[in-house]
Amino acid sequence: TASGSSTSAASASTSISGSLVSSIAAPTAPPTKQLTLVDIASWADDFRYTPEGAFSASFHYVDAEDEPPKKCNVKYQRDCGESGCILSAIANYTSRVQDHSLDAKQRAQALKWITHFLGDIQQPLHDEAIAIGGNQINVDWNGTVVNLHHIWDTEMPTKLAGQFTPENVKAWTKKIVKELEFGQFRHHKWDWASCTDIDAGAACPLVWAREANSFVCSYVLKTDPTGKEASGAYYEGAAPIIEMQIAKGGVRLAAWLNTIFAGYPGLW
Ligand code: ADE
Ligand code: ZN
Repeated sequence: TASGSSTSAASASTSISGSLVSSIAAPTAPPTKQLTLVDIASWADDFRYTPEGAFSASFHYVDAEDEPPKKCNVKYQRDCGESGCILSAIANYTSRVQDHSLDAKQRAQALKWITHFLGDIQQPLHDEAIAIGGNQINVDWNGTVVNLHHIWDTEMPTKLAGQFTPENVKAWTKKIVKELEFGQFRHHKWDWASCTDIDAGAACPLVWAREANSFVCSYVLKTDPTGKEASGAYYEGAAPIIEMQIAKGGVRLAAWLNTIFAGYPGLW
């Protein structure tokens, strides 16, 4: 998503023909740093809380209104509200990123949304309406009162990674990639990344949301966690779910982008 010319491209151009120099070395914007997915993935959360980004708040979740822990499901018509939800948002930005009538900036922008939402959709409480996705359920986290949504979004992943320093994030990423390549996830990744129909609207997002939502019944709210300690046994039981859901998010984003940009449906 980096825009403008890179420093290396600009300096390489000085050694070739003059016309090329003038066409390449006249950037409309100063050279920018090459950004990674990590740099852009959380942009949508920052934007959501600005006045101009308020319209996008409902794009981060789908308020599935079933009856966990007895019954769990996501239904598009019932659960995707009038202002849009994560299912319609992924469908919309997937079509915008391929829309050649939009300018490069708008299409890069669509990519930022997609990168964020393919992560959010893996978090069970982003696919659940109960107590506003667990935001109104308070639990005990190491002696502090914290809401359950925040525990799943931030506290437990942070504890798993060991604080979100760049080094720790890199090490955690490596561990998950290893599990995908050679470890416990090696046979599952193909199935996880198998829904790649980028032209089928919300069909694949619905598959992913239902899968994450099923954990609301099987674990997240299986027994009412209200007021209970969440940093001990509850955390230990959640850790494998979190690691797997994050791994799914990674391969699904990879397969989605491969399909959009390389014309390779799937991981390759
Ligand atoms: N606001 C309303 N429902 C929500 C959910 N499921 N997740 C996050 N924020 C929400
Ligand atoms: Zn979000």
